[in-house]
Amino acid sequence: MRKKIALIGGGQIGQILAMLAAMKELGDIVILDVPSYVNVVKGKALDLMEMAPHGDYDANIIATTDYTDVTGADVAIITAGKPREAGMTREDLLNVNIQIIKEVAEGIKKHAPNAFCIVVTNPLDAMVYVFHKLTGFPKNQVCGMAGTLDTARWRAFIAMELNVSVADVAGIVLGGHGPDMVPLPRLTTVGGLPLTELATPEQIERLVHRTREAGTEIVKLFGKGSAFFSPAWSAIVMAEAYLKDKRRILPCAALCEGEYGVNGLFIGVPALISAKGVEKIIEIKLTDEERAMFEKTVASVTRTVNECKALGY
Ligand code: APR
Repeated sequence: MRKKIALIGGGQIGQILAMLAAMKELGDIVILDVPSYVNVVKGKALDLMEMAPHGDYDANIIATTDYTDVTGADVAIITAGKPREAGMTREDLLNVNIQIIKEVAEGIKKHAPNAFCIVVTNPLDAMVYVFHKLTGFPKNQVCGMAGTLDTARWRAFIAMELNVSVADVAGIVLGGHGPDMVPLPRLTTVGGLPLTELATPEQIERLVHRTREAGTEIVKLFGKGSAFFSPAWSAIVMAEAYLKDKRRILPCAALCEGEYGVNGLFIGVPALISAKGVEKIIEIKLTDEERAMFEKTVASVTRTVNECKALGY
């Protein structure tokens, strides 16, 4: 039997998720969205079915508003949410998206209690915290997609800067999905060689800054909405690691219970993703400078999570 992928939210990221999941034949796909938008999503699902003859995939792709259609899903990727609108404060947005995550958590808990859940909705580190709290799922079953994307951006910018194949750039970005995330130049290599010897300190500083601001750079270009291709592919990499038991080491927002000195917070750390979900968080020693940066991002995520706690979550 084919696996089942539930995509909660069929907007910009959701539609690319559906296309990539189909092209990789990860399983049948159910896209769930709100009644006012579901016809558009039904159109997207049908369009993808009609792409199959050339896309060379077998997958059933449907759109729905009904959680019973996600029954038994193996993976759930959550992009449901509202973007920030004019006149809305960050807190207003947090409130709106918490309500949406609450609805999603109830639906998944009831109908797909064994799904490996990947939260993408922003503010990411807080939304994954709320989703975990409300589902009560084991911690290995819930994670947030951020570090995989931030690391992809870091690698892409390095390849562009040095004019080399991105395939040869390996690295990692830790921390929350915000402007104080922590790219680690010390642990980044290009064709096995240390980045710190291939780029000047000024170049590295520029790359770190661009990575931290990468989401904003795209928002500014779009004028409305945020990135969708790279976030979608990043979430698919995580889903595939789980479905195919690939045992990949990917940075993702995982629940730390003592690791990296963090307790009770989802934050971007290197995780082993296997058929067990987030099988374990891999700890390494950070330098004093790296640790100071990591503590800063932990403080930011703690502030947002505390706002959720103040709202009763
Ligand atoms: N249940 C299901 N879907 C919902 C709900 C809900 N309660 N509320 C909203 N949605 C749907 C919207 O109708 C829309 O189709 O979620 C979708 C969100 O899609 P977009 O607005 O296009 O946003 P997208 O660019 O896909 O980003 C989704 O990921 O990276 C983050 O910041 C981004 O939080 C945003 C999320």
